[in-house]
Amino acid sequence: MKGIILAGGSGTRLRPVTIAVSKQLLPVGDKPMIYYPLSILMLAGIREILVISTPDDLPQFRRLLGDGSHLGLQIEYAEQIEANGLAEAFVIGADHIGDSSVALILGDNIFHGHSFYSVLTENSRDVSGCVLFGYPVNDPERYGVGEVDADGRLVSIEEKPTHPRSNRAITGLYFYDNSVVDVAKNVRPSARGELEITDVNRWYLERGRARLVDLGRGFAWLDTGTPESLLMAGQYVGTLEERQGVRIACVEEVALRMGYITSDECHSLGVRLAPSRYGQYVMAIAKELADL
Ligand code: TTP
Repeated sequence: MKGIILAGGSGTRLRPVTIAVSKQLLPVGDKPMIYYPLSILMLAGIREILVISTPDDLPQFRRLLGDGSHLGLQIEYAEQIEANGLAEAFVIGADHIGDSSVALILGDNIFHGHSFYSVLTENSRDVSGCVLFGYPVNDPERYGVGEVDADGRLVSIEEKPTHPRSNRAITGLYFYDNSVVDVAKNVRPSARGELEITDVNRWYLERGRARLVDLGRGFAWLDTGTPESLLMAGQYVGTLEERQGVRIACVEEVALRMGYITSDECHSLGVRLAPSRYGQYVMAIAKELADL
């Protein structure tokens, strides 16, 4: 399975901060926002990743992540000239996807929860159709909303409904089989002029090929789109990290635990990041796992 991180957009709700800096490069806790979605793809076992962003911002992502080889990954980059909608990712990423299945994750989505590794690996195996992830929210009218029947089958998807049929927001992580490239190419732009991901998902739904995996209340799916929610996300991450002494979305640690890099390589990455506490953590984890 290939991966795409969509990290463009205009971040208008975070202006003036986002006039000069991409939203997905802003810090959440002590690391750039894009580390969170990147670590999710890595945990799902995905090592070939395309980062899509605006022409202005792409060089900064490249500076941060390079070709990914230090993390045992292959990272490539592509431009989205204008924010033409989430589904454009599959058109821009068609060559990258090739004949594989693909996971799309939005660059500003933060997921955290127990056993996420199992949820990801179970659902990314042999994807046929599409797999969406639902999360209960108290303001579903702001999101794409999925409705499931008594047997857990997805029966409807509505985009920002005035009267939502459920409280299950569809999160910014999506798994698709290879037909998504053709489906996205044939989607008509919405009234907003965007290629809507909801239209792609509906195509699968209408053919009985869409599943909704419920993340449930034991999970955290955090928003980072406004100054308040960005601050809350940082506080959430900081609180857990301080209390437990472990880090969320430390990509060097994920690479090590997934077997993408050795503990020596991980240690060298930590040395480069020292003297920050983040760098010290990377070195400590490398030592701890080397001693096992
Ligand atoms: P949004 O939060 O809908 O938009 P935005 O990030 O531009 O912010 P704002 O509403 O404040 O203007 O986008 C969700 C994610 O998808 C975010 O990571 C940006 C990304 N995105 C793209 O990369 N390309 C697009 O065409 C769109 C619509 C979003």
